[in-house]
Amino acid sequence: SEEMYLHYHGLIVPKETHSYESLEFAQGFKFEDDDVLAVTYPKSGTIWMQEILPLVLNGGDLTPIHTIPNWERVPWLEEKQLARVVDKLASPRALVSHFPYNLMPPSFCTSKAKVIYVMRNPKDIMVSSYYFHQMAGFLEDPGTFDEFMDKFLEGKVMFGKWTDHMKSWRNSELGDRIMYITYEEMAQDLPAALRRISDFLGCNLTEELIQKVAEHCSFKSMQNNNMSNFSLIPKVYLDHDKSPFLRKGIAGDWKNHFSSEQLTRFTSVISKELEGESFSLPWSL
Ligand code: PPS
Repeated sequence: SEEMYLHYHGLIVPKETHSYESLEFAQGFKFEDDDVLAVTYPKSGTIWMQEILPLVLNGGDLTPIHTIPNWERVPWLEEKQLARVVDKLASPRALVSHFPYNLMPPSFCTSKAKVIYVMRNPKDIMVSSYYFHQMAGFLEDPGTFDEFMDKFLEGKVMFGKWTDHMKSWRNSELGDRIMYITYEEMAQDLPAALRRISDFLGCNLTEELIQKVAEHCSFKSMQNNNMSNFSLIPKVYLDHDKSPFLRKGIAGDWKNHFSSEQLTRFTSVISKELEGESFSLPWSL
């Protein structure tokens, strides 16, 4: 694992996609007031936002999602790719990040850039992440599901503990610069979620455009979009035969994976770590 991950402010991140240079580049990144950032703990809906944001920001223009791979279209703030593509980003720029709030660069805090924090039930995050560790050649083998649960709960996975990530962003006090949305809300009623996103960003999409965007951001459409399904990435890095990146796309798959003992263990660790927090979770654990 020392070979695969690097340590940064107490977090581990994969070396394949991150370097000290890229992490420092993120720290020096100059946010503009009209930038839009989607923040996620890994496996919470990142690539979904990479599809949604360009469509919402550009009145449903399909060109970006059909011609630019998602990692260049809406790059990760902390990844190596950013320095290569930053000058090519269309305005208003959209980015994604897995950083906890405390690692946000100073320019983010002083800018008026808006941020959408996407949350997902941590049990489904863990399931998604378990399969992702099997298919991603640049991540440590997850071991058994039970072993992986321990790693996840201890925060010995990329970007650390889910609870720390949540606490940092839920307590960020960014006022009307931040919008919270859940993966489950998007899965249940995508047009309604898109209306909320569009209103937050001041885009005022017509109902016709909302429906069009929803169609192109559906799980099926994204599975069939080579610019979004990671089929352009060589198999040694992402092996879709082991598990597709766009794997299942549903809420509640944890029910097919957790034993009742695992559910008890998971719930007790998570609820203990969130004890005394002023925010409440959008789902019951
Ligand atoms: S990553 O590696 O952090 O960028 O992964 P991330 O994109 O955050 O999460 C991947 C999961 O999101 C699901 N996904 C979707 N679900 C429903 N609809 C759409 N359009 C969609 N796009 C991505 C993807 O399938 C992964 O979840 P699982 O549960 O593994 O299927």
